[in-house]
Amino acid sequence: MPFTLAPELHAQPTPFYHYDLGLLDATLTALQQAARPRNFQVHYALKANVNLPVLARIKAHGLGADCVSGGEVQRALEAGFAPEHVVFAGVGKSDAEIRLALAADIWCFNAESAEELAVLNELAGAQDRTARVALRVNPNVDAHTHAYITTGLEANKFGISLADLPAVVAQFGSWPHLELVGLHAHIGSQITDLTVFAELSQRLNELQTWLESQGHQLPHLNVGGGLGINYEQPDGQLIPDFEGYFSMFDRHLVRRPGQQVHVELGRAVVAQCGTLLSRVLYVKQSQSTRFAILDAGMTELMRPALYGSYHHIQNLSSTAPELLYDVVGPICESSDTFRKAVALPETRRGDLVAIRSAGAYGEVMSSGYNLREKVAAVYVGG
Ligand code: LLP
Repeated sequence: MPFTLAPELHAQPTPFYHYDLGLLDATLTALQQAARPRNFQVHYALKANVNLPVLARIKAHGLGADCVSGGEVQRALEAGFAPEHVVFAGVGKSDAEIRLALAADIWCFNAESAEELAVLNELAGAQDRTARVALRVNPNVDAHTHAYITTGLEANKFGISLADLPAVVAQFGSWPHLELVGLHAHIGSQITDLTVFAELSQRLNELQTWLESQGHQLPHLNVGGGLGINYEQPDGQLIPDFEGYFSMFDRHLVRRPGQQVHVELGRAVVAQCGTLLSRVLYVKQSQSTRFAILDAGMTELMRPALYGSYHHIQNLSSTAPELLYDVVGPICESSDTFRKAVALPETRRGDLVAIRSAGAYGEVMSSGYNLREKVAAVYVGG
């Protein structure tokens, strides 16, 4: 079913984000039906979308929170996630952010370097606490996704490289305010070739065996996020392949008795539930190209400009025969293009356009460039 907009929302000023909380509920139900019987705990990666009504649904379905800044830790607590279900990851945590998370007594810090561990130890000591820590390793596994969202290769800034891990683990005894509780890896985002998760599992199995040989039993493993969605055909498969994702780990990750396994999904939870609604300001025919100029631009949805990402585009107002348009925004950058040569029914000034699959890394990545105002969010269903 293509996207439809309730009649009462046709007069809503554009651009705006539209969230389908009914679809979010259905997604979360499917997610937990795949995760729970296999005994996986899902932490939602707040970075994908931090809107409170969205977080409220996610919390109601029993997910935890994966945060990458002090602001996200605060937002998760504000949304009602219990501190014992909050983790704090990120390659550059500031002292103030670490202090805030320590004071909230969150479940775990995913640490990415010996330098960070030393600071964490010192700040935990100052609060007379012990910080629970998982080591984020860089497993050097290729996720076969866009270079900008690949994170698990030696050349990426993330995690402790396999070569440095022995030295970091050997140092652990010198940090009295840290408790090693787990191993963490995240290899990238928008992953559609699920076999890379088998490779990641294999690497984690080897690392776990090695850590045990060094005297470290791990109560938990965290395999990161990364499950992709179908941007090309948003109505083809509305709910991502959670069964395929979890069964891959189930088959390949060797767990110890009683060991908890966390996954931290962002995109697959929320992307399909969000749509950016915009109106056509002008249709401009140049010598070579027909442009549909929208009132939304890269300031509202940066993904096409930043990664060349595909978002499905629908004209909700016209059923005329199709023509080709370059669909662009109003911002003073040539990269402010949603897509070139899009087949749309003949389009006129005032037509409503839906830009699909924008619920993850859409509104959160919006900017005030050109002094643009932050757009409204509308919630339906659920
Ligand atoms: N865990 C860690 C450590 C991460 O870095 C990320 C995403 C996630 C979990 C959640 O990954 P997901 O399940 O959403 O793939 N702005 C980009 C995506 C950046 C992803 C950053 N890290 C985009 O619009 O495609």
